[in-house]
Amino acid sequence: CRFVVLISGRGSNMQAIVNAVHEGGLAAQVCAVVSNKVDAAGLAWARDQGIPTVAVPHRDYSSREAFDAALADAIDAWQPHYVLLAGFMRVLTPVFVERYSGRLINIHPSILPAFPGLHTHQQALAGGVQWHGCTVHFVTPVLDHGPILAQGLVPVLAEDTPDDLAARLLQVEHRLYADVVRWLAEGRVALDAMQRVQVRGVD
Ligand code: GRF
Repeated sequence: CRFVVLISGRGSNMQAIVNAVHEGGLAAQVCAVVSNKVDAAGLAWARDQGIPTVAVPHRDYSSREAFDAALADAIDAWQPHYVLLAGFMRVLTPVFVERYSGRLINIHPSILPAFPGLHTHQQALAGGVQWHGCTVHFVTPVLDHGPILAQGLVPVLAEDTPDDLAARLLQVEHRLYADVVRWLAEGRVALDAMQRVQVRGVD
């Protein structure tokens, strides 16, 4: 199973994905890590691991459509089965999303459908919720929607700042994305024609 991972920054979820592939004895490979930022810290980490990296700087393109077309070219060179968004901070056009229908996956730091968009930890604190979490989902043209593959939870504690909550949640994100990557590599999850997630033998 061939994965291309898209990042914009630190890339800690991408590292969790790479580690899951290596440690899980999976018939899988992270073929390339692609970023819209040349200086994304995660690109340097990936290069150190011997993983090919590609930068497609969004500022080099005059429109979202032009950027997404260049991004798709960079991805398709690796012929991946799945494209994994891991802290990739650009909104993708419907044309791009449709091109990878059933093959494009994202992690979002909230329990969707609660708190789509940015600043989810602030949103959770402002909302007074007792539990916060993360969602791995198939990407559809509607931002932070789409069929849900898995969710993880963390408690919200009384004195939490957004940073405290983010740090607690990040550990769960890493485990959750690693789990989903294993399921994908083992062919245990897929999207059916009705856009429903089909699962086999997932614990
Ligand atoms: C993660 O919290 C992810 O859920 C969100 O952005 C953050 C990226 O962190 N979309 P990293 O780059 O994976 O370390």
